[in-house]
Amino acid sequence: MNLRGRDYITLSDFSKDEIWYLLQVAKDLKSKQKAGIPHQHLQGKTLAMIFKKSSTRTRVSFETAMYHLGGTGIFINENDSQIGRGEPIEDTARVLARYVDGILIRTFEHQEVLELAKYADVPVINGLTDGYHPTQVLADLLTIWEHKGTLEGLKLAYIGDGNNMAHSLMLAGAIMDMEVSIACPKEYEPDPLVIQDARLLAKNSGKINVVCEPEEAVKGAHILYTDVWTSMGQEEEALRRRKAFAGYQINKKLLTFAEKDAMVLHCLPAHRGEEITAEVLEGSQSAIFDEAENRLHAHKAILDVLL
Ligand code: CP
Ligand code: NVA
Repeated sequence: MNLRGRDYITLSDFSKDEIWYLLQVAKDLKSKQKAGIPHQHLQGKTLAMIFKKSSTRTRVSFETAMYHLGGTGIFINENDSQIGRGEPIEDTARVLARYVDGILIRTFEHQEVLELAKYADVPVINGLTDGYHPTQVLADLLTIWEHKGTLEGLKLAYIGDGNNMAHSLMLAGAIMDMEVSIACPKEYEPDPLVIQDARLLAKNSGKINVVCEPEEAVKGAHILYTDVWTSMGQEEEALRRRKAFAGYQINKKLLTFAEKDAMVLHCLPAHRGEEITAEVLEGSQSAIFDEAENRLHAHKAILDVLL
C-alpha cells in the first residue's frame, strides 16, 4: 500500500485498510526496535515540529521516532520563531516545505492545520488541535489490538469531555467497526457534526452513541477511556468544569459495570482524583503506560509511511 505524500489530519482521511496498514507497520517497527534491528528508513529526512501548546509525549516521541528512523526532528516553539510574531501560516508553510520532508503541528484551531496543509506540499501531521488528536488514537488502536487481539466488535466507552479525544476516538471506532459510547454532561457533548461524520462512517450508525450516564456507556465495554476535564486553552473554565464533570470519573465502582477484563486507557497527562482514580490508573486493568509507549511506535509508522 502506498500512502507516501499523504497528510495525517484526521482519521476520517483514511480507510479501514489504510489504518490497518499503519498499525501493521507500527507493529513491525516496534518489534524491530525491541530486537535491535536497524530501521533507518528516513536517512537525511527532516520533520519540522511546530508547537503552539505544551507537550511531553507527542514532542519527545516524534523527535525520537525521527532519530530512530535515521532522520531529524526540528522543534519549533511558536514564540521563538516568526510564527509568534504573526508570520502568516501560508508563508510558513511554503518556506518550511522547501527545507523539510514533513511538518507536524500542534495548535488550537483545526482550520490552521488545514491551511498549513493547503500551502505546504509536504505531508502535514496533526499533533493535536482543539478538534482532534489523531496521532494519539493510532497509538490507542495499536494498544487495544495488542491487548485484545482484535478491534472489530469491541466496545469502547469514553467518559468525560466531548473534546478532541472523544472526536478522534468516535471516528476511529466508526472506521474500525467498533462500538463507541460517549458519556458526558449535557453541555459538554461532542460536536454534533463529528457525531454525524462518525455515524456516516460507521457500517451501523447505531454503534456510535452519546449518553449522559457513565454506567450506561460502560455496560459491556471492553475498553474504558478518559481524558482531562479541562483541556489546554480552557484553563479559565477549570472551576466550572470541575463541578460539571463530578461523577464522570473512571474508578473501581465504574469498572464493575464493564466487561470483567476491560482495559483502561488515558491519553495522559492525567489528573488523579478527577477523571480517574490513582487506584485505577495504577491498577492491573490499566494499559496506560503501554499506550504512552505506543505513541513512539505509532508515530514511526506514520512517518515511515507518509515521508
Ligand atoms: N497525550 C499527549 O498528547 O500528550 P502530550 O500533551 O504530552 O504530548
Ligand atoms: N484533551 C487534552 C488532550 C491532551 C493530550 C487537551 O487538548 O489538552
